[in-house]
Amino acid sequence: MPKLTFEATLMEKFIEILANKEEITQRALDILLVKIKDALQSRDQFTIALAGGSTPKPLYEALAQQALPWDKIHVFWGDERYVRSDHPDSNQRMARQAWLDQVNFPPTHLHPMPTAANDPKVDAETYNRELEQFFHLNAGEFPVFDVVLLGMGDDAHTASLFPHTEALTVQDRLITVGNKDGQPRITFTVPLINHARCVMFLVTGANKQEPLAQVFASEADAIAYPSRLIQPVGELWWLLDAAAGANLT
Ligand code: 6PG
Repeated sequence: MPKLTFEATLMEKFIEILANKEEITQRALDILLVKIKDALQSRDQFTIALAGGSTPKPLYEALAQQALPWDKIHVFWGDERYVRSDHPDSNQRMARQAWLDQVNFPPTHLHPMPTAANDPKVDAETYNRELEQFFHLNAGEFPVFDVVLLGMGDDAHTASLFPHTEALTVQDRLITVGNKDGQPRITFTVPLINHARCVMFLVTGANKQEPLAQVFASEADAIAYPSRLIQPVGELWWLLDAAAGANLT
């Protein structure tokens, strides 16, 4: 087990069911603003890994309205589709349009996942090295992100950690190649996510009810429902809307 770079604490888990997407966005923003304040007070720096997909977009738009010290914040991505950065499916493109290009981030504070090597393994290794350098890691160490934002698919995947794929079993790397129906992705590994101070899932929609029931079940196959693998040493937040959380007691 790699050396933790901070005192490991027992995971604290918070599950909140909110009325709708708007309430989830506001709650997530409130939590993030506290995490940013705490990180800046303690370390004068805040590191966050963004989720892709559609759910987090309103949160990114809300962050663009905040007056924050962008020169103390570093933004990474938790996963990326293997497309050009100007492709409509690009997670980088979505976050830039919704938030990052709307405020004055120093360009060196944005750390998008590379997808230009025409070989996802090469780009995954490049990003792995970028994290090792940024966090000044020794071999085998994992960085501790202040916040990792995640979504969850209706197959219970998160980041680009899809059911029954090799990426789920990678324990000795920070970044690996994900696989969605044969399409390559670049993704954080499970251990990298699990070293975070705070992991926050934003999940909406009735189509997430069944996978959520499996993720929260006392027994279920984590390889079939990969979001079960997310058990961070820090805080784990699940912000669900009423539709997604309907069957949870
Ligand atoms: C991606 C995401 C992925 C996403 C889920 C949920 O690259 O697509 O990182 O893990 O979070 O698929 O997507 P929605 O928010 O669109 O439901």
